[in-house]
Amino acid sequence: MFFFANSGSEAVDTALKIAIAYQRIIGQASRTRFVGREKGYHGVGFGGISVGGMVNNRKFFGPLLSGVDHLPATYNLEKNSFSKGQPKWGVHWADELEKIVNLHDASTIAAVIVEPVSGSAGVIVPPIGYLKRLREICDKHGILLIFDEVITGFGRLGKPFATEYFDVVPDMITSAKGLTNGTVPMSAVFVKSKIYDAFMHGSGDGAIELFHGYTYSGHPLACAAGLATLDVYKEDGLFERALSLSDYWEGVAHSLKDYPYVKDIRNLGLIAGIELESRKDKPGARANDVFAHCYERGVLVRVTGDTIALSPPLIIEKNEINQLFETIGEVLNKVE
Ligand SMILES: Cc1ncc(COP(=O)(O)O)c(C=O)c1O
Repeated sequence: MFFFANSGSEAVDTALKIAIAYQRIIGQASRTRFVGREKGYHGVGFGGISVGGMVNNRKFFGPLLSGVDHLPATYNLEKNSFSKGQPKWGVHWADELEKIVNLHDASTIAAVIVEPVSGSAGVIVPPIGYLKRLREICDKHGILLIFDEVITGFGRLGKPFATEYFDVVPDMITSAKGLTNGTVPMSAVFVKSKIYDAFMHGSGDGAIELFHGYTYSGHPLACAAGLATLDVYKEDGLFERALSLSDYWEGVAHSLKDYPYVKDIRNLGLIAGIELESRKDKPGARANDVFAHCYERGVLVRVTGDTIALSPPLIIEKNEINQLFETIGEVLNKVE
């Protein structure tokens, strides 16, 4: 079942609220805590920044939501640098959830939220087995698992959703961006039927089941854009296209390994991150210079901190992939 909203941030706050309300409905009202992850990005609502782990997005905004813990980011360059696809090392990071459970007791925790592949913190790909382990620990303790698929949803990894790619089924998925291809603002929370049913098995007197919603939830224009986008995905086989390009993408991305300042290259599906050595005087400055020089050459890249984060349109062609990475390589030879 789906709950529509207008942005990824709203979808995340909606999912967090559904989690607490669901636990209450099923008689677990003491479950109000959340677990997010360091370096996580879940938008800019108070819920999203509270469970998120981007320091600058948090530090200006006071105490945030109470009752939130963070798993460690699955990031270790000594062990995992230049991994192609999922790193082999690091499944144990999921066990940190057991420590949080031991600290607070499972009866206080409503949900865990993670991006299957973290994007805005600089493309951090989960180690093999990590998400499955998280799922197992959540199941063991009656904790809901939320995948924030605002980036990974709708074909980014060559499957409709990351849940299919990793073969791990969360209790809720948040999505936005690809839902309408960004043409009209829209987001959605997907919930398992057990959650939907719990809300719907109320008094049946027509009362509101979930006291939450937005004026523009399910706006007809956004719905039309969403339906049209689904048609294009299907007719043009764009998810399959992403899948068939992902090996090529990986190969070209990793060809930049020996270029100046390249500290790590990470990739999965049609996502890649090129982490640069930080400039001592000003972290992030080198990546910003790369952005500026690429832009002058007609190539738009996104940078986050010291990482160039790439997530191209699913219609990208091989020659455009070449152009993208060749331009970055050329620029890396130039920047200081
Ligand atoms: C994983 C994730 N969650 C949530 C958001 C927030 O989405 P929005 O900017 O539409 O609020 C983003 C945006 O990039 C995102 O990447």
